[in-house]
Amino acid sequence: MTAVIAAPGNPGIGQHAELRPVDPCAADDVAALAGEVAADLVVIGPEVPLVLGVADVVRAAGFPVFGPSADAARIEGSKAFAKDVMAVAGVRTAHSEIVDNPAELDAALDRFGPTWVVKDDGLAAGKGVVVTADRRAARDHGAELLEQGHPVLLESFLDGPEVSLFCLVDGETVIPLLPAQDHKRVGDGDSGPNTGGMGAYTPLPWLPAETLTEIVEDVVKPVAAELVARGSSFSGLLYAGLAVGTNGPAVVEFNCRFGDPETQAVLALLDSPFAELLHATATGRLAEVDAPRWKDGSAITVVLAAENYPARPRTGDVITGAEDGALEGETLVLHAGTDQRADKALVSAGGRVLNVVGVGADLAQARERAYARLAGIKLPGSHFRTDIGATEVVVPERNSVAG
Ligand code: GLY
Repeated sequence: MTAVIAAPGNPGIGQHAELRPVDPCAADDVAALAGEVAADLVVIGPEVPLVLGVADVVRAAGFPVFGPSADAARIEGSKAFAKDVMAVAGVRTAHSEIVDNPAELDAALDRFGPTWVVKDDGLAAGKGVVVTADRRAARDHGAELLEQGHPVLLESFLDGPEVSLFCLVDGETVIPLLPAQDHKRVGDGDSGPNTGGMGAYTPLPWLPAETLTEIVEDVVKPVAAELVARGSSFSGLLYAGLAVGTNGPAVVEFNCRFGDPETQAVLALLDSPFAELLHATATGRLAEVDAPRWKDGSAITVVLAAENYPARPRTGDVITGAEDGALEGETLVLHAGTDQRADKALVSAGGRVLNVVGVGADLAQARERAYARLAGIKLPGSHFRTDIGATEVVVPERNSVAG
C-alpha cells in the first residue's frame, strides 16, 4: 500500500494524508508509528524534534529518516556551534557576542550598531529577532529575553538583500534547490516587527548565477564537509540564510530543515518526484540521483496571518473560501495554523494561518494569481503583505577587496 501519514498534521494536509495524533517531539511514539505503518521513509519537518534527536531514535529503530541527527541539527539549535563550524570552514558570517548577564548588556550594545541585531540564542521561530536602528528598542528586547532566562545573541548587521538557499545534503554531497527570498517583517515595505516569514518568491531574477555558485561552493559545501570532519555528518535539508552585500554572500543563519514560507514557493516549481529526492538523501544515495528538474516560470507564496500576529495572534476565527478550487498548477492554498471545529468549520489555530501560492510564467503573473486567490479567502481580523515579490532588489557592487 502507498500512503502518506502525517503527525499531527492539520486539515490542509488531511486532504492528502491520514492524520495521526502523535506528538512529533515524542521520539518513541514517532518510532512506534513508523513501525505500525511499516514506513518506507520518515520525514521529520520542524527544527524542534530534530534538535531533540527524534531522527536519531527513529533511525536507530531501523527506518530511513529524512532529517539530521541531534548532533548535526546543532547548526540551527546552537548559535555558538554554528559560528564555530563557520569559522573553521572559512565561511563569512556576522560577528557576534553572547550576553547572558543583564549587567553586561549595555556595554555589549555599545560594541555593536548603528543597526543592532538582537536575537534569542535558542529556537524562536524567527520571532526572537529584532533588527533596529533604535538602541532603546534593541536594549528592551535584549533585557526582555534575559528576563525570560534566554541568553541574548548580538550580531553585526549584514548589508545587502537576503537569499534563502535550501540544499539537500547527504554528508559531503550537496544539491541546491532554487534560491528564494523571504519577507520577514510583518508589514509592507519591510515595516514592523520580524515574523516567521510573511511571504516568499522564487527564483531570484536579480541574483547573479556566479553568486549562487559561490554560495554552494564556498558556503554550503565547506560547512557540510566540516560537519563530516567533526563527526556530525548532516543528512537532510540544510538551509543557508544569507545576505549578499558589498563583500559578497555572508551567512545570517543556518537552519536544519525546510524554511517556511520559501518552501511553499520552491516546491511549487519542482518537477522531479520529491519523495525520491528525500528517500535518496535518507538512504545515503543522494550522489546517485539526477539533479532536480524545475518548471519554467516563477512562484510566490503569501502568508495570511491572524489578527495580532506576531505579538499575540487571535485564534479560533472561521476561515472561508480556502477550499482548493483553483486551476491546476496556477494556485494552491497550503495550511499552517488551521484546525477543524467539531461542526467541521475551518478555524485559525496559529499566527500564520495559511499560505496562498501562485505559479506563473513570470513573477508578475505568479503574484497576480496568488493575490487574486487570496482575495477570495476571508478570516476576520487577518492581514497579509501586499508587496511580496514586488520590491526592486539591487545587489550592491562588490568591494574590490572582499572582507
Ligand atoms: N523563512 C524563515 C524560516 O523558516 O526560519
